[in-house]
Amino acid sequence: MASILVTGGTGLIGKHLCDILLKKGHKVFILSRNSSNKPNIFKWDIENNYIDENAIKNTDYIIHLAGAGIADKRWTPKRKKLLINSRVSSANLLYTKVKVLNPNLKGFIAASGIGFYGAITTNKIFTENDSAGNDFLSTICTHWENASLQFNALNIRTVILRTGVVLTKKGGALEKIVKPIKFGFGAALGTGKQYMPWIHIDDLCEMYVQAIENPELTGIYNAVAPEYCTNKILTKEIAEVLNKPLFLPNIPALILKIILGKLSNILLEGSRVASNKIVKTGFEFKFSTLKNALKNLLKN
Ligand SMILES: NC(=O)c1ccc[n+]([C@@H]2O[C@H](COP(=O)([O-])OP(=O)(O)OC[C@H]3O[C@@H](n4cnc5c(N)ncnc54)[C@H](OP(=O)(O)O)[C@@H]3O)[C@@H](O)[C@H]2O)c1
Repeated sequence: MASILVTGGTGLIGKHLCDILLKKGHKVFILSRNSSNKPNIFKWDIENNYIDENAIKNTDYIIHLAGAGIADKRWTPKRKKLLINSRVSSANLLYTKVKVLNPNLKGFIAASGIGFYGAITTNKIFTENDSAGNDFLSTICTHWENASLQFNALNIRTVILRTGVVLTKKGGALEKIVKPIKFGFGAALGTGKQYMPWIHIDDLCEMYVQAIENPELTGIYNAVAPEYCTNKILTKEIAEVLNKPLFLPNIPALILKIILGKLSNILLEGSRVASNKIVKTGFEFKFSTLKNALKNLLKN
């Protein structure tokens, strides 16, 4: 049984992950911006370099998920700064505190995104060895990963999960994609040919569990399902699972660009991302096909 501190433990992935870790018998603590009377929630204030030191002192592992929502708002210069700082300054703060307090930390495990490779539609299948793209999300992911990789300098095992779109029963991207389809107004976006690397929440959480329990995991892994899907296939499969018609033409890219600005790129572009590296560690996906993942999430 390990003592695990989860930043962003109140979020979509964090809540699910904390439940799973608790069920496995681990002691779970959360680092949050909000104060709480709950004994397992500690406060931090990234801008003011503050962390309740009790959060760090007795922890065996830190899982760093915190970050302002990438797709929640338009990317104004102010929002861009927040998207970076909430991930990078927070990782730097954790690093500084761990260096000073010197707990017996066995691992630092952090999220990153497949946005690392850039929002582009190509025939290429990206692996962990590929270099970063050259758009804003690639920049965030590069700084975020570099901040996390600092823990290697303290001889602390560091694992980074470059995560695809996480499919969950409630909340997150799937709920937004499903809504118009449920009402019979579903349509693919832009050309519909852009790939959307995805992962079922249960598989992602199991990867975090493996990152803690299997000391052989170290470095960067793509956290995506092995089956590739385009935006058109995703839209079609959701409609099939929900037994809904799809008759509308694709939503023109221009409309999304006008509504969302640069943020629309992450909906309109995307390439395939390989999961071979994590599979080679012995990881077995519970949901390797999109159809099974959608049936599990939308039917139950
Ligand atoms: N969901 C996905 O499809 C997906 C895909 C790829 C990568 N990821 C990454 O995985 C991580 C977790 O994702 P998620 O979907 O669980 O995110 P989420 O639901 O938005 O939760 C993120 C958590 O981060 C904290 N947070 C929010 N704004 C913050 C800020 N300005 N400064 C510091 N902390 C802040 C919040 O915790 P408190 O309010 O308690 O402080 C929040 O609960 C994120 O970094 C995300 O970018 C997610």
